[in-house]
Amino acid sequence: MAKLDNETSRTFSEFLLLPNLTKKDCSSDKINLKTPLVRFTKKPSLSLNIPMVSAVMQAVSGPNLAIALAKQGGLSFIYCSQPIDEQAEMVNKVKRFKAGFVLSDSNIKEDDTLKDVVSLARTTGHTTMAVTEDGSPHGKLMGVLTSRDYRLEKCNLKDPVNKYMTPFSKTIHAIEGISLEEANDLIWAHKLNSLPIIDKKGNLKFFVFRKDYNQHKMNPSEMIDDEKRFIVGAGINTWDYKERVPALVDAGADILCIDSSDGYSEWQKDTIQYIKSKYNVPVGAGNVVSGDGFKYLADCGADFIKVGIGGGSICITREQKGIGRGQATSVMAVAKARDEYFRKTGTYIPICSDGGIVNDYHMVLALAMGADFIMLGRYFARFDESPSKKMKISGNFVKEYWGEGSNRARNWQRYGTSGNLTFEEGVDVYIPYAGKLSDNVNVSLSKIKSTMVNLGVNTINELQKNARITTVSSLSLREGGAHDVTVRENEYYPSP
Ligand code: IMP
Repeated sequence: MAKLDNETSRTFSEFLLLPNLTKKDCSSDKINLKTPLVRFTKKPSLSLNIPMVSAVMQAVSGPNLAIALAKQGGLSFIYCSQPIDEQAEMVNKVKRFKAGFVLSDSNIKEDDTLKDVVSLARTTGHTTMAVTEDGSPHGKLMGVLTSRDYRLEKCNLKDPVNKYMTPFSKTIHAIEGISLEEANDLIWAHKLNSLPIIDKKGNLKFFVFRKDYNQHKMNPSEMIDDEKRFIVGAGINTWDYKERVPALVDAGADILCIDSSDGYSEWQKDTIQYIKSKYNVPVGAGNVVSGDGFKYLADCGADFIKVGIGGGSICITREQKGIGRGQATSVMAVAKARDEYFRKTGTYIPICSDGGIVNDYHMVLALAMGADFIMLGRYFARFDESPSKKMKISGNFVKEYWGEGSNRARNWQRYGTSGNLTFEEGVDVYIPYAGKLSDNVNVSLSKIKSTMVNLGVNTINELQKNARITTVSSLSLREGGAHDVTVRENEYYPSP
């Protein structure tokens, strides 16, 4: 007979937080949401500035979302259900985006025409182009062309580029070896928008852009590495890691995450140990829902451990296979094991609550229950920056969203069936479009901070230690929303 675990499987909506004394020195502006990303004994080598990562999913984590989220202080794991070279290119695109020293992506030759310039600008979205002898990113620099150099309405599209470009002799440039600070000083001194960096032979090496400097000032929480490039993660699987991992490391991935619906497996052990024996890149593992699953992956060397089976918004694993556990119960069970492991070994292994966040307050509950950070799919898929298509359906804007176990993604490697997806574990859906990532993340973070003020805590660690949680009855849940009133429609209010 099966062993019965007497603990009921519960989800976030079945809990609420109780307020603690709010001391006068506890206010939203003093709250620090920095949280460890990888295992540590004294100090983590990598931390998140906000406790959010985006799901390893086709509809969620592409390069644009990775850049937007890193700007806010979070991290994306670029999805792995795609060919290795394409995933590596996405990772590299994030690393190139804001290197301080950026590899020139838009290059043109002197005798190319303005028509060529227009079509290049359309594909790259760039308004500054390097004019090089052979049109390559590292060719001899002949000049620079920006959108301020020509007026499309007045110019002949057949004109050559050298009629409009600033020639090299008049281009302010710097020689390779200059520091980023010195490069920015030159930009400011000469009122430039960009500064080409060349080698001693006059070949183009990089650009430094004024907008990157401004952006850094505007986003003090952004996740950047020592070279001021955005930090980015990448998903991997337990099937082709020997080929995928080297390509991702070469492309600049800062952290990896084994993406699997069930991480309590010897395949994960092999994958982690292979990576640890050859590379210096941290790797997260999962998903697990119990203390024994956590301990197994911790002993294998996982740098963080992801928690959750069956709770994702697009997930039908529990219906299809009868396996899983309520997300709140899973997080608390794994957090307990994590704390025990820390007490016994002195090593702290961060845990990530993955999936099932419906309301913003679920995020703060997940953290209070012991998660160090949260992985979100549906939440991020709704934003402009996600790779999925925005559409209008019945007068409302929506975005497409689909599970990795759906027929659309066919990510069989995630579900452990060799080369085939014999049945679906995910669905293909629409979700309401929600606008820009930064606007939404800022609102969610304000709510998290506000709850933390009510609990009298300033950090996630204090939240985990001091939070008191209560279960809710279905009637008290009803009491929590607007009730016994008629909600006024927006049109009753005068427009601002
Ligand atoms: P959400 O934030 O509730 O939408 O959940 C996202 C999480 O669901 C992901 O991070 C995965 O762990 C999980 N997931 C993604 N695709 C599938 C699927 O097709 N079936 C089951 N779970 C999935």
